[in-house]
Amino acid sequence: MSIQSPPNDWFKSPRGAERTWIGLALAWCVVLSVMMPYWHVKGQQNSTGEAYRVDPSAFQQRVTRFVQAGRVGEYKGVDVVEAPPGGDAYLLGRMWAWYPVLKLKKGQTYRLHLSSTDLQHGFSLQPVNMNFQALPGYDHVLTITPTQSGEFPIICNEFCGIGHHGMTGRIIVE
Ligand code: CUA
Repeated sequence: MSIQSPPNDWFKSPRGAERTWIGLALAWCVVLSVMMPYWHVKGQQNSTGEAYRVDPSAFQQRVTRFVQAGRVGEYKGVDVVEAPPGGDAYLLGRMWAWYPVLKLKKGQTYRLHLSSTDLQHGFSLQPVNMNFQALPGYDHVLTITPTQSGEFPIICNEFCGIGHHGMTGRIIVE
């Protein structure tokens, strides 16, 4: 027979090391549960939650205009665009690249518009490990001020198909 009921006295209260481990796991659950709302208020990487509905084709047009206005070169075949300090910068996630390569100035503030034209992608800036979602239909606006110069790779951390592992991009801060 494949299924049998356990005998009626199967339950034995945990004791000794088992009790300690259950206690530790429980305490850790409590810590993590408290940390979630704590980070929501105190974390330094939180999105301000500014987002607007946008038709993916309209967002694509804004990106095209942004590239035409500020294109300064090419990086491995991808357009490099210098965003106007104090102004808008656009970053488009699509299968399977982040477009374009952004050039920003340290200490200047930008309004970074993040969206996707196909499906959900995960914007993950390395090595600072800042993570945001890019969704088609939403213009996610992040007010950013780069504090370090250098080249920052972007990876996609939301599984988005066969080319996901190669979905990269770049932000250059001078
Ligand atoms: Cu885009 Cu994974």
